[in-house]
Amino acid sequence: MDQASKKQAVAAAAVEQIREQLVRGAVIGVGTGSTANCFIDLLADHKGRFDAAVASSNATAARLEGHGIRVLDLNEAGSLAVYVDGADEVDVGLNLIKGGGGALTREKIVAAASENFVCIVDDSKCVDVLGAFPLPLEVIPMARELVMSGLRDFGGQPQVRAGFVTDNGNLIVDTKGLDLRDPPACERRLNDLVGVVCNGLFALRPADVLLIAGAAGVERRLRNRS
Ligand code: 5RP
Repeated sequence: MDQASKKQAVAAAAVEQIREQLVRGAVIGVGTGSTANCFIDLLADHKGRFDAAVASSNATAARLEGHGIRVLDLNEAGSLAVYVDGADEVDVGLNLIKGGGGALTREKIVAAASENFVCIVDDSKCVDVLGAFPLPLEVIPMARELVMSGLRDFGGQPQVRAGFVTDNGNLIVDTKGLDLRDPPACERRLNDLVGVVCNGLFALRPADVLLIAGAAGVERRLRNRS
């Protein structure tokens, strides 16, 4: 099975996973990226069954609206029953690296507002230890050099994503070489760098359900909450 077919398969599994939550009054959190796009396109077949969605990016909002799905501001929606999104890397604890599409801040906000986070990936995203994928950070433009210096102090090799501005008007700094073996501690430490809006580690609020598409089909893993 090629990667595009795996994305389709895991998106279809996500629709099944949240089927019981697609009810009148429900507002669904929706992520960003090519896997999330497959999910949006399949969710459109069920648009009469739920009320609206909260989008984690302008691109996702446009795609949802293109299918006739109502998009709400999170402030109008309150807490969400479920959020569905992809990831760039995922470990056995369901900690994630996200932000390959540059939408990490809104993604982290929507994830934080959701009771259940369903992460959808193909098997190329699964790793033992996070960090082969350069960690994206959203950074206030005037703090660029300050943040990059702080990241170098942590052993990282930061690089500004060329020609990219986030939906919030900020920069993305992709950072190789960080030691991410303790994801929650790293997430906190990176949040403490002044000028960082958000970092792409999702460990303080990891996924609750992980759907992984591989050659043999879609595997479901649940986070151990004990
Ligand atoms: C966007 C993200 C995406 O979820 C992540 O980059 C995965 O994207 P794709 O499904 O295209 O591989 O975090 O900011």
